[in-house]
Amino acid sequence: METIYDILKAEHKQVADLIQQAMRDGSKETFFKIKAKTEPHLLGEEKLFYPILEEKSELRELVSHAYEEHNEIKSISSELESMDAGSPNWTSKIKELNESVTHHVEEEENKVFPEAQRALSDDKAQQIAQQYLDFSKSFKQQHPMP
Ligand SMILES: [Fe+2]
Ligand SMILES: [Fe+2]
Repeated sequence: METIYDILKAEHKQVADLIQQAMRDGSKETFFKIKAKTEPHLLGEEKLFYPILEEKSELRELVSHAYEEHNEIKSISSELESMDAGSPNWTSKIKELNESVTHHVEEEENKVFPEAQRALSDDKAQQIAQQYLDFSKSFKQQHPMP
């Protein structure tokens, strides 16, 4: 079975590709695809992954910083949701989203995941992976694409 780290990294890559696409096509449709990928990812990490990491005192600061970055991504995303794709700020907002997501992904992949791998047993990581996949599936069923 894939580890939680492989699952999350694969989703990071999918989001990065979609953001590149959004920067090329400038469409709101592509933005909604980004949102549909990003929302369950952020929520799943917050519900199932970060709380386990927060139990380790050495990871607490790293995780609280990650929450702040999630909030920044969510706030940029909700601004985009209320904008028209043709509006003058659209392109710069998409770029802002790109910078914010890229930065957060780098921190997770280079700092959070290696620390988590040290702190969590393989069994625990596998349990989180299964819970994450279940959560992601039911989230997508409850929030179908518009
Ligand atoms: Fe992530
Ligand atoms: Fe994250």
